[in-house]
Amino acid sequence: MSLYDDIDLSSVFASFQRLQASPPGPDISGTLSGGEELSRFSFGEDPASGGNSRLHSAARNEFADTGYSQYSFLRDQPITYNGRETFDVQAIRKDFPIFNQKINGKDLIWFDNAATTQKPQQVIDAIKHYYEHDNSNIHRAAHTLAARSTDQYEGAREKVKDFIHAASSEEILFVRGTTEGINLVAQTYGRKFIYPGDEIIVSTLDHHANIVPWQQLAKEKNAHLLVIPVNDKGEIILEEYERLLSPRTKIVSFGQVNNTFGTISPAKTMIDMAKRYGARVLIDGAQSIAHTAVDVQDLDVDFFVFSGHKIYAPNGIGVVYGKKELLELIPPWQSGGNMIKDVTFEETVFNVPPHKFEAGTPNVADAIGLGAALDYVSRVGIHNIEKYEHYLTEYARKELGQIDGIRLIGNPRERISVVSFIIPGIPTPEVGKLLDLEGIALRAGHHCAQPALRRLGVEATVRPSFAFYNTTAEIDKLVVAVNNILRTTFS
Ligand code: ALA
Repeated sequence: MSLYDDIDLSSVFASFQRLQASPPGPDISGTLSGGEELSRFSFGEDPASGGNSRLHSAARNEFADTGYSQYSFLRDQPITYNGRETFDVQAIRKDFPIFNQKINGKDLIWFDNAATTQKPQQVIDAIKHYYEHDNSNIHRAAHTLAARSTDQYEGAREKVKDFIHAASSEEILFVRGTTEGINLVAQTYGRKFIYPGDEIIVSTLDHHANIVPWQQLAKEKNAHLLVIPVNDKGEIILEEYERLLSPRTKIVSFGQVNNTFGTISPAKTMIDMAKRYGARVLIDGAQSIAHTAVDVQDLDVDFFVFSGHKIYAPNGIGVVYGKKELLELIPPWQSGGNMIKDVTFEETVFNVPPHKFEAGTPNVADAIGLGAALDYVSRVGIHNIEKYEHYLTEYARKELGQIDGIRLIGNPRERISVVSFIIPGIPTPEVGKLLDLEGIALRAGHHCAQPALRRLGVEATVRPSFAFYNTTAEIDKLVVAVNNILRTTFS
C-alpha cells in the first residue's frame, strides 16, 4: 500500500499544472497610471471579484478537498480589504533616515532589499536606547540593568513567537542569521539523525546557504543530497519532488521564496508531502519573512529560519524556530556558559531550550532591534505589505519587460518582490555600476544562487528587489536609466 493512498495526489498535480498554465494573477496594473506616485495608494477592487475570480476560486476548489488550499498565499489568503484601505508609502519613507541623502547627486533608490533592508528610526532608536540606558549581560545578575536587559531580550523572543505564530517562545532560538541557523540544524538534527544511505532534499532554487551545509553533512555522513528540479519559468516541479521522496528521506530543506526570480514555493503542499514519508522539513525564510505572513503552526514545519536584517532589523541577529519536542531531542551545537544547568569536571547537565542553543553572551541589543522591527512591520500590516509589494513587482515586470534589448530571467507564476534581467552585450557588474551613477542600488551578480541561475541559462543577472518603502516612481527611474544605458552603449 502506498503512503499516498489516503490522498489523491494526481488531482493535486493536475491542478498545479492547470494553475501554472493559467494567465497570471490579479492584474492591478491598471489601477494607476504609469509613474503615478503611490502616496495614499488605494488597493482598489478585491481581486477575487474581478476578472481573476475564476483563478482564485479555481485554486480554492481544486485544493479544498486535499488540504492544500495554502498553495498560494496571494490568491488564497483571506481578502480583508475593501477598496477603502490605503497604504501611505510616503509616510513610511519618512521613518527611514537613510533616504535623506543623495548618491552621486541623485536620490538614493534602494532596490537591493533581497540582500538587506534599510532600518526605520524606531529600530535605530531601540538599539540606541538600549546602549544608553540598559546595557547589561542577561540571565546572570541580580542588578537592575540585568533585569531590564533580560526582560527586553526575552520580550523580543515573545515578539518573534507572535510574529511567526509559534506555540511557545521556547521554540525560538536567537542566532546570527539564516546561514548560522541552517548550520545549527544541520549540525544538531543532521548529525544525530542522518545515517549512511539517508537522503536530504533541497531545491534547485535554493541559496548557497541552504545547499552547502547539507552538502557538507551528506559527505560527512555518507548520505545523499537530492535536488528538486525546476522548470524553465523557475518554478518547483512538484511531480519531480514527489519522485525524490522516499522512506530514505530524512529532511527536506528549501526556501519559501527564491532570491533570484522571486518564486514562491508551494511550501505547505511540499511539507505535507514530506510528512507522508516521515521526513522533517526546514524552511529557509530569509526571503519570505518580510514579504508574507508566516504561520509555523499552520505550515506544520519542523524548523523555520530567517535573518533579522532582511526584515528591517539589524545585522547579526536571526532566528531558528524549532518544534519544542524536536529541540528537546537534538543535542546542543555550541557549548559554554548560559546553555548549562550544572557543570562538574565529569559531567554537564544542559539547560532546556531555547537556552541550550544559546551558548555565551547573546546579541541582546540586536534582538531588541529585531523586536522593534517586527513591531514596525506589524503596525504597517504584513498583508498590506505583501499586497503592495506584489503590485510593485508586477509593475516592474511590466515596465522592464517592455524595454527592447533586455531579457527578463525567470517567469514564475507565484512570485514576489524580485525581478531578474540581463542586458545581452553588457556585463551585469557594468550595469550595476552604471545604475549606481543614477543613485540606484541593486545587486548585479550570481546572488549566491548559482545553480538556480545556471538552470535558467545564465551566470548572473541584474536584480532589483523591492520593499514596502519603494515606489512606482522609483521603478520608472530605473526604466529610464536602463534605456539610457542601452542608448549610450549601442547607438
Ligand atoms: N542572500 C542575499 C541576496 O540574495 C545576500 O542578495
